[in-house]
Amino acid sequence: MGLALATAMGGGAAAAPDHERGRALFNDNALMPCSACHALADAEAEGAVGPDLDEFAPTIDQVRAAVTSGIGIMPAFSEDLGEDEIEAISAYVAGVTGAAEPEGSKAEMPSDPDTTDAS
Ligand code: HEC
Repeated sequence: MGLALATAMGGGAAAAPDHERGRALFNDNALMPCSACHALADAEAEGAVGPDLDEFAPTIDQVRAAVTSGIGIMPAFSEDLGEDEIEAISAYVAGVTGAAEPEGSKAEMPSDPDTTDAS
């Protein structure tokens, strides 16, 4: 299976590791991939069951709440994902949709060279 994933990040991993982790979890996790239901350009996800997350641009708190407890028909992931996994997904989604809102952390925006702007 995960041949591509096995290729280690040898030289210069530019993006923050949590970013990669968040994207991986978005597309593949124990319960159900977020990408099955949500569109998110950065993850190349085109699900159409739930809101388009690029348009929705949730804050990290909104993602965390939705993923932890579920909302509407969206299932809760709290039994299938660890806290830090939920945190990684939340930071990732809020980060790539531009609504990152780190609380109390001095997280600074890494200048991300691979902005995937398809148009
Ligand atoms: C089974 C389909 C499904 C899956 C899987 C799913 N969602 Fe959702 N999601 C929805 C639907 C539907 C809504 C809208 C719920 C509503 O407002 O009634 C939603 C809403 C949201 C919202 C908006 C919450 C708000 O405050 O309105 C966020 C953020 C979100 N999802 C993120 C995620 C993430 C991240 C994952 C993966 C961990 C995920 N979703 C997995 C269907 C899904």
